[in-house]
Amino acid sequence: MSSTTADRVAIFTESVIREMTRLAALYDGINLAQGYPDFPAPDAIKEAAIQAIRDDHNQYSITWGTKVLRTAVSEKVRSYNRISADPETGVTICCGATEAMIAALLAIINPGDEVIIFEPFYENYGPDSIISGAVRRYITLQEPNWEFDRDELARLFNTKTKAIIINTPNNPTGKVFTREELEFIAGLCQRWDVIAVTDEIYEHILYDGTEHVSIGSLDGMQDRTITISGLSKTFSVTGWRLGYTVACPRLTDALRKAHDFLTVNAPTPLQVAGVAALHLGPDYYARLAADYRARRDYLLDVLSSVGFECFTPRGAYYTMTDISAFGYADDTEFAQYLVKDVGIAAVPGSSFYREAHLGRDRLRFAFCKKQSTLTEAAARLSRLRS
Ligand SMILES: Cc1ncc(COP(=O)(O)O)c(C=O)c1O
Repeated sequence: MSSTTADRVAIFTESVIREMTRLAALYDGINLAQGYPDFPAPDAIKEAAIQAIRDDHNQYSITWGTKVLRTAVSEKVRSYNRISADPETGVTICCGATEAMIAALLAIINPGDEVIIFEPFYENYGPDSIISGAVRRYITLQEPNWEFDRDELARLFNTKTKAIIINTPNNPTGKVFTREELEFIAGLCQRWDVIAVTDEIYEHILYDGTEHVSIGSLDGMQDRTITISGLSKTFSVTGWRLGYTVACPRLTDALRKAHDFLTVNAPTPLQVAGVAALHLGPDYYARLAADYRARRDYLLDVLSSVGFECFTPRGAYYTMTDISAFGYADDTEFAQYLVKDVGIAAVPGSSFYREAHLGRDRLRFAFCKKQSTLTEAAARLSRLRS
């Protein structure tokens, strides 16, 4: 008898991150696994969302997004990312960066085309590649600074390569790709006629004076980059599902077709509120980064003091840690112990690698939490030492 479900989903496992969230709820643990804030979104944008519903912005919007939000995105990427995009032909509003990524890959991949992915990776890129029919090729980000071997990357490019997925600032490593690294990648993209698909969802969460560079702003990349970002992380509204893509008209046109049939449009009233969010301005971004730096420094101090070795992130709101000092068989066993007996949920490192053994001594903690949550986490973690 033939199977009633499709092969393409059979190989997907449950998201390890969402599984850890489930265990955190089950054991009353503090959830330092999943990357969503437990503090409120800014009042101004909440009010704007409520008002938008009252004003009856409650029906379908234009499939690629309301004109006002596309215009606000276009202005923002011009000033912050140094990318010029016409709101009519170059900006598409999607249901989060998540939908933007799958729409982007569906728009450019033919079955058998190759996609290059940096490892450790954000877990969605694997399934996204599978759904779009891509063959995955991996390049390792090497500890402790998460650099990549340029010769190794150059060897991965070939005539079948269609895209390279970049995530900067990076989840889970906290790496922020340098201008020089991105120029090197851009050179390869141009030489091999490859599209850069770049996930910049953490673009405003940067530490220690680190600069965010968008590969789409580099010479020769304007017509071969799909830049993805969104409001989830920057405005602490992960449940709103608002993301966007910026790309040249040819790529935008293809992507909009995939987007239209996937989701029609992102939530209309929240798109109205999204405009208010993007107008909050530079002071808001500066405060966001400063607040996250304080949380980063606090959690890294706590983790180091109880025996974790932390890889200091330069951006985003996670830290990868080395757990070898604790002497557990592997990351999953230690993560289970941590959530059940200590009351802290974190993500086993193996979920960020294609071969589990590569992450067996790693655990990722998220610090997008209010100070009281982090203080309670510190109290629980202090039990580890004893
Ligand atoms: C690298 C990366 N991209 C995308 C997302 C999801 O973004 P969105 O909420 O806009 O779908 C996340 C969330 O954790 C992420 O870490």
